Amino acid sequence: MTKITQRPRRNRKNVAIRNMVRENHVTTDDLIFPLFLIDGKNKKAEVSSMPGIYRMSGDLILKEIESCLKLGLNTFCLFPSLSDKLKDKKATEGLNKKGLYPATIKEIKKYFPEAVIMTDVAMDPYSSDGHDGLVKHGEILNDETLDILAKMALVQAEAGADIIGPSDMMDGRVGVVRETLDDNNFTNVSIMSYTAKYASAFYGPFRDALDSAPKFGDKKTYQMDPANSKEAILEAELDLMEGADFLMVKPALSYLDVIKTLNDNFTLPIAAYNVSGEYAMVKAAAQKKWIDGDKVRDEILLSIKRAGASVILTYFAKEFALSLKK
Ligand code: PBG
Repeated sequence: MTKITQRPRRNRKNVAIRNMVRENHVTTDDLIFPLFLIDGKNKKAEVSSMPGIYRMSGDLILKEIESCLKLGLNTFCLFPSLSDKLKDKKATEGLNKKGLYPATIKEIKKYFPEAVIMTDVAMDPYSSDGHDGLVKHGEILNDETLDILAKMALVQAEAGADIIGPSDMMDGRVGVVRETLDDNNFTNVSIMSYTAKYASAFYGPFRDALDSAPKFGDKKTYQMDPANSKEAILEAELDLMEGADFLMVKPALSYLDVIKTLNDNFTLPIAAYNVSGEYAMVKAAAQKKWIDGDKVRDEILLSIKRAGASVILTYFAKEFALSLKK
């Protein structure tokens, strides 16, 4: 007989042993569920490129949050989808304290104070240019944008946001948001910075959901080049110095190496955004029965965790939570 001393298969021989030696687990504690908010009452429309994901009016968002809390899903990232009428070059509606977004955050925190609400800071949902910053002569202005972002963050904190998520990629935004929050006694409001946010084609379905695609050009002068990883370390160093509480990598799947690099080099918790295009691809292939969607979902979430993310923003959050109850 062949003499083999080490037989790794022994640790795979039955379910109990496999479970015992399993290195990584995904639980509902790790997940953040993104939700798309629209104006109105009792309104719900599926995002065509994201089967199972709906734009919902505030009343239905409340119901959705209630049912998610029962499943052990506690953290939500809310994105507003506004009509073109409310959009302008300066993203004015993003600073409206009585706007749909802050009003809904207030409602959620009133009924479900235990729910953790993460908000989005960027100009694109409110901008007639569809860019994350202020546009002048075709250029995205950095420092002029910071002032708007800081005010936007303050409106959201006043409404009750627990975690502010700057998703815009302007230089210095985490610092100005932190300073503005602190100056207004919101020292306990956290910042989850979109630290390494790449200029990615995987955001397509999200832009359909919010109708927020750029009206001209692309986002390559502020979002990162997919070819770069050292630059992610620079962004992370800056966010750490500027006061971020979490460092996020986005998208997740084509950037698992970046997740690992940041986790190996920084002590802050790493988050990963399993984005709309990643969700859409799984759903499309599963609908065609080319893959087993549920198993692929679980494998994807595990891979993001294994790479080093302790927090995952994912459109799969609710169906994953439901699958644990079965
Ligand atoms: C924009 C923003 C985007 C996403 C989150 N915030 C899109 C973009 O940068 O154009 C994408 C999320 C997803 O694709 O699921 N501030």
